[in-house]
Amino acid sequence: MTAERVRVPPIKCQGIKTKLVHWIKHNLPESLNGTYYEPFLGSGVVAFNVRPLKALLSDSNPHIVAFYDEIKRGCITPALVSEFLNREGRRLSQSGADYYYEVRDRFNAERAPLDFLFLSRCCFNGLIRFNRDRLYNVPFGHKPERFSRSYITKICNQVKWVSQLIRQNGSWTITCTDFREALSGAGPADFIYCDPPYVGRHVDYFDSWSEADEMDLNAILRGSGARFILSTWYENRFRRNKWVDDIWSDFRMVSREHFYHVGPKEANRNSMTEALIINYEQAEQPGQRHAAALQEAQVTLDKPIST
Ligand SMILES: C[S@@+](CC[C@H](N)C(=O)[O-])C[C@H]1O[C@@H](n2cnc3c(N)ncnc32)[C@H](O)[C@@H]1O
Repeated sequence: MTAERVRVPPIKCQGIKTKLVHWIKHNLPESLNGTYYEPFLGSGVVAFNVRPLKALLSDSNPHIVAFYDEIKRGCITPALVSEFLNREGRRLSQSGADYYYEVRDRFNAERAPLDFLFLSRCCFNGLIRFNRDRLYNVPFGHKPERFSRSYITKICNQVKWVSQLIRQNGSWTITCTDFREALSGAGPADFIYCDPPYVGRHVDYFDSWSEADEMDLNAILRGSGARFILSTWYENRFRRNKWVDDIWSDFRMVSREHFYHVGPKEANRNSMTEALIINYEQAEQPGQRHAAALQEAQVTLDKPIST
């Protein structure tokens, strides 16, 4: 069996897990019978590749949720996206940064999901960042010719894929809510995948994360009785994530090195050891991990570790 290709959604965001999807999927329980919760949806790349039958997908950022909601309701279609990006892309190539900032102002006034898509795809580094006045403030990515025909086709195919997924899966709910509320209904039959902002590492209106948030998430996951995977960081060149040893240490941890890119330069590749904190055991033979990760072999689920 060959590994299924990871598909990429139309929205980008910081901390996007595209390169880690195989690894996360490999560590999932064999069966997802209850509801799949993903309360820090971001781009949606994990949920959309896991394709659970029943899911509650949420994020506190209303613009991410509005975009997927419009896809769900059929207000955003691949044809509309194509028309929109061809038109807006032409204007960007004529006026460059000036036009980017015009769309950014328009988005901050009107909050149109298609403008959000446009910004996400030509801003600096695919960042989503809002200031305390809730204004999107990411600068231009310096590529006036960004929306080439092939780039637009690629984005339209991503929209088509996500539209089919969301519309086929009638039992997916996508909502804008804080993780505390999103997880209030989770119980022992369910599975939760959490990818919160990394504590102390982001300053953004919708994407900040405090020590109190980390403690709350810990208590909620323990209290739910659900099986869960938490994505976090373990260490980088300079420091180690103390929370892994402080409040997550009684769970199983698997880790691997990952490179985050900041800008196009090779020198800006920052190595980070990524960790998955997991509250259930899996039966796996030593030495199988690499092959299994490549082949997405199914792993056997044991009971949740009691906490
Ligand atoms: C690291 S990103 C998730 C990335 C995602 N896994 C992906 O691969 O694209 C964290 C997300 O958590 C959301 N978030 C931050 N604080 C939150 C909160 N209190 N409740 C719900 N979502 C929150 C942010 O808006 C952001 O989209």
